[in-house]
Amino acid sequence: MSVTHQRPPPRLEIRDFTRRFDGKAVVDNVCLSIEPGHVTCLLGPSGCGKSTTLRMIAGVEMQDSGSIYVDGALVCDTVFRVPPERRSIGLMFQDFALFPHLTVGKNVAFGLTGSGADKKVRAKALLDRVGLAHYIDEFPHHLSGGEQQRVALARALAPKPKIMLMDEPFSGLDNRLRDGIRDETLDLLKEEGASVLLVTHEPEEAMRMADEIALMREGRIVQRGAPYNIFNAPADKEAVAFFSDINVLRGRVEGALTDTPFGRFLAPGVPDGAEVEIVFRPQHVSIDFDRHGKGPNPTLIAGTPARGVVERARFMGSESLVEFRMDHDGQMLKATVPNVFLPKIGTPLWLSVRRDRCFVFPAKS
Ligand SMILES: Nc1ncnc2c1ncn2[C@@H]1O[C@H](COP(=O)(O)OP(=O)(O)O)[C@@H](O)[C@H]1O
Ligand SMILES: [Mg+2]
Repeated sequence: MSVTHQRPPPRLEIRDFTRRFDGKAVVDNVCLSIEPGHVTCLLGPSGCGKSTTLRMIAGVEMQDSGSIYVDGALVCDTVFRVPPERRSIGLMFQDFALFPHLTVGKNVAFGLTGSGADKKVRAKALLDRVGLAHYIDEFPHHLSGGEQQRVALARALAPKPKIMLMDEPFSGLDNRLRDGIRDETLDLLKEEGASVLLVTHEPEEAMRMADEIALMREGRIVQRGAPYNIFNAPADKEAVAFFSDINVLRGRVEGALTDTPFGRFLAPGVPDGAEVEIVFRPQHVSIDFDRHGKGPNPTLIAGTPARGVVERARFMGSESLVEFRMDHDGQMLKATVPNVFLPKIGTPLWLSVRRDRCFVFPAKS
């Protein structure tokens, strides 16, 4: 007798999702899966198709092709369709409107079935959990924006959905509140064991919340992975640029190598004569003083330093941003330095970039 240990199916799986508006695919062959208890962030710029993807999973919009599975069971394709309310999917959108004519308690109990007493117990327990039980008989307009947001979360979680879909749920809150509410929300989602697909256009929010990020651009998923991997092993230049400012050097390849003022870089698999872009973040540039026209010695880790003169220096609060015009070709490069570092305009300084912080990509024409 043989025993096979099969991996359990993902909690939520989307296969080959496509949605066209006026002939243009705004969601283009998207595949996604979310593991039980995980938070996956669908991250991408405005208009890339995130909300459309979420609305199709929720069942409020129909895909042109593709299918949805929950725990391995088909929930929806272009022929078969489980109605939205029977998908065990909870929703929370940016404009999380509470019902104004219902009390906070009745808002939370709204999607529950069972006896009135049972509903009240569950609503009370969730309101206790978010620290708002004392508002149970109040109407929503007595609550602040942050409190209403917590009630909306309690309402969405009350029926114990297996999956929570959240579309920019924190974007209506002011910055001071946001960090705290994000953390509380994450704790509660984990406690309730919900698998979460959270849509956001803010990289910091995704980094803070996600177990896994799916990076979306122009209707497609361009990269998936843990926040650390997306940040440190980006798929292309745009993926680097989505998380921070970037510096770009261009070079031509000869024998899988390219020469730059910062030394030689490997460009494996790139044919001779092709152009590559070497991309790095300002935070990975280090700065040394000029000693009679000389900088630090080249090393394997830090590469070769190159000289530039300060063109602009600004203090940004927790760091300083310094812009350089490089001696070799007049190109502008940026460096960020923790704390206050405001060298005078025209000061010559040496820049180096750690090799393992540089990404080499074939240039897209
Ligand atoms: N009902 C619709 N009719 C026509 N175009 C739409 C419709 N819904 C969304 N779009 C378009 O699809 C694209 C993706 O929209 P959306 O999914 O809302 O993006 P995101 O949430 O990433 O900002 C946008 O260009 C938007 O204008
Ligand atoms: Mg949207």
